Amino acid sequence: MLTQILLAGLAASSASAASIYGTKSSYLTEKKDQSPMFPFLAGAAPYFSYPLGDNYYKINTSIPETCTLKQVQVLARHGERYPGTSEGNELIELFNTKFANLSKSELANNEYFDFLVDPTYQFFLPNNASLELLTTTKDSFTGALNPYAGELTAMKFGEEFTDKYNSLIGDTLPIFTSSNSRVYETAKYFSSIINKYLNTTINMQVLNELKKTGGNSLTPSETCDVWDFPVHQDIVDAMDTSYLDNLASRLNNATKGLNLTSKDAELLFDWCAYEIDASGYSPICNIFTQEELILHAFGDDLSSFYSDGPGNPLVKSVGSVFFNATVELLKNPPKEYNAYIGFTHDVNIQHMMAAVGLFDTGKLMDSKFDYRNTIYKKSWITPMGARVILENYECGNSSYVRYVVNDEVVPVPNCNEGPGFSCELDNFYKYAEDRLSNITAFGTACNITNLPTYQSFYWDYQTVNYTAPIEVQSY
Ligand SMILES: *[C@@H]1O[C@H](CO)[C@@H](O)[C@H](O)[C@H]1NC(C)=O
Ligand SMILES: *[C@@H]1O[C@H](CO)[C@@H](O)[C@H](O)[C@H]1NC(C)=O
Ligand SMILES: *[C@@H]1O[C@H](CO)[C@@H](O)[C@H](O)[C@H]1NC(C)=O
Ligand SMILES: *[C@@H]1O[C@H](CO)[C@@H](O)[C@H](O)[C@H]1NC(C)=O
Ligand SMILES: *[C@@H]1O[C@H](CO)[C@@H](O)[C@H](O)[C@H]1NC(C)=O
Ligand SMILES: *[C@@H]1O[C@H](CO)[C@@H](O)[C@H](O)[C@H]1NC(C)=O
Ligand SMILES: *[C@@H]1O[C@H](CO)[C@@H](O)[C@H](O)[C@H]1NC(C)=O
Ligand SMILES: *[C@@H]1O[C@H](CO)[C@@H](O)[C@H](O)[C@H]1NC(C)=O
Ligand SMILES: *[C@@H]1O[C@H](CO)[C@@H](O)[C@H](O)[C@H]1NC(C)=O
Ligand SMILES: *[C@@H]1O[C@H](CO)[C@@H](O)[C@H](O)[C@H]1NC(C)=O
Ligand SMILES: *[C@@H]1O[C@H](CO)[C@@H](O)[C@H](O)[C@H]1NC(C)=O
Repeated sequence: MLTQILLAGLAASSASAASIYGTKSSYLTEKKDQSPMFPFLAGAAPYFSYPLGDNYYKINTSIPETCTLKQVQVLARHGERYPGTSEGNELIELFNTKFANLSKSELANNEYFDFLVDPTYQFFLPNNASLELLTTTKDSFTGALNPYAGELTAMKFGEEFTDKYNSLIGDTLPIFTSSNSRVYETAKYFSSIINKYLNTTINMQVLNELKKTGGNSLTPSETCDVWDFPVHQDIVDAMDTSYLDNLASRLNNATKGLNLTSKDAELLFDWCAYEIDASGYSPICNIFTQEELILHAFGDDLSSFYSDGPGNPLVKSVGSVFFNATVELLKNPPKEYNAYIGFTHDVNIQHMMAAVGLFDTGKLMDSKFDYRNTIYKKSWITPMGARVILENYECGNSSYVRYVVNDEVVPVPNCNEGPGFSCELDNFYKYAEDRLSNITAFGTACNITNLPTYQSFYWDYQTVNYTAPIEVQSY
């Protein structure tokens, strides 16, 4: 299979890179696998497949035999990154003011923080120069040994994508990206793999995310000035956050001279997640109990549900820009290519999913952790490197679509009787029409008067040529 050849190629290239960058090879040896923790780190940890669980229905992601791929649509998040400016500066300050001065003798025997006196450990943010950026094997202190560098995730995605969808990729292919540098870099690494294996000429189209460009954008929320999020702040605020108070007390009590607040304690989850992205392993992750991890994840799902998810009606309007384009691409595809690929940020994917409704029961999410009320797991939908893929294939004389979210088939509600749990195309159009009829149009909801209200870039890129400048700051 093409996969084996492709993945072997990637492994070989990263192994040879190790000697070039002269990395701290000792640091990562025999460190325990932290990937089981990724689903609890609020979308800040490295990529993982949608974790339905071993005893759940695992629908085969292969295109069913006797079916032929016709089209693929992708909306993907950038790969693993450093923290953003505000949380990154807060983390640096926390480290410098509360950890850097703890006495070495105190730390040496400390149950939680003895790693701080391990000479092979290095805090992943020695300064704030890397904030906002994609993590790479060149800037990670563990170099090419960091298996989670955003660069590698983007390349691996490129390999898997090329393997599965090569029949849809021609001699030239436009790839669309927002103008943020980590998003753009991800698109470049992904594209380089398609070019490497198929010799496809990539036409990179960069859409401005800092300028208000209305709906013709991969970040349409930027233009929505009436954004009044989050709604139901009362429900979000009602969540019991005493687990953070208890975490802070537990750590303070065990560490002479440490005086963490509950807010500091919350930042430790980010330290954990982003340090794995940057270095491949983070010893601070070991301080949390399972209950703390679950409540942290739930708290993030809850607040996201009302800020950028289906709990916020305006979000559905913003996301309808993507959903409308999905339907248009099926009905009226550009003739010159069959793979429609956009790279953007997590929230934009969340907005699209709120409109599409794969994770929307129509019920509001409750502030109390309740298993029946947790279908919306934001960080499972948009971890670093997230990708939501719509496949369109033909079987016999009929055409079908289905969504694959982070390597898992997630069936369209009430429309999944086609091959591979897909939705017959006309039924999908009905589903979309029904769903969109209940969502206020983007232009109306966001009071857009003089700007485009829909995505035209998939169709008009050859005449417009989108060439926004790349920026480190995101919108
Ligand atoms: C998934 O489907 C493909 C194509 O039909 C088939 O070759 C493969 O064996 C299936 N995998 C599993 C685990 O059933
Ligand atoms: C980096 O930190 C310095 C203060 O130490 C601050 O003045 C500067 O704005 C920060 N830069 C960024 C990009 O966060
Ligand atoms: C930590 O130590 C450094 C120098 O050793 C000192 O400049 C700084 O003020 C101390 N910070 C705190 C919060 O004690
Ligand atoms: C690869 O593509 C380039 C131009 O896009 C072409 O000149 C070259 O011959 C191609 N190479 C192969 C091996 O097909
Ligand atoms: C504080 O630490 C002491 C021993 O170091 C322990 O006996 C006590 O239970 C701890 N208290 C809390 C609230 O964790
Ligand atoms: C801990 O910090 C709080 C404020 O964050 C302060 O009021 C308190 O005095 C500090 N306690 C110690 C022992 O430093
Ligand atoms: C959906 O997109 C099409 C063109 O792609 C556009 O003509 C139509 O107005 C859009 N619908 C909405 C509600 O924006
Ligand atoms: C497909 O359509 C053709 C022509 O419309 C028809 O002859 C054929 O029987 C159809 N095949 C199936 C499997 O429905
Ligand atoms: C649309 O709204 C109507 C009336 O509120 C409701 O009956 C219907 O189920 C909704 N459809 C969808 C797809 O949400
Ligand atoms: C909508 O935009 C117009 C001008 O573009 C402005 O006058 C009006 O106040 C806005 N309405 C709302 C509800 O924001
Ligand atoms: C599009 O813009 C890029 C960058 O400015 C330029 O290199 C390229 O030639 C342009 N392509 C077309 C078709 O105008």
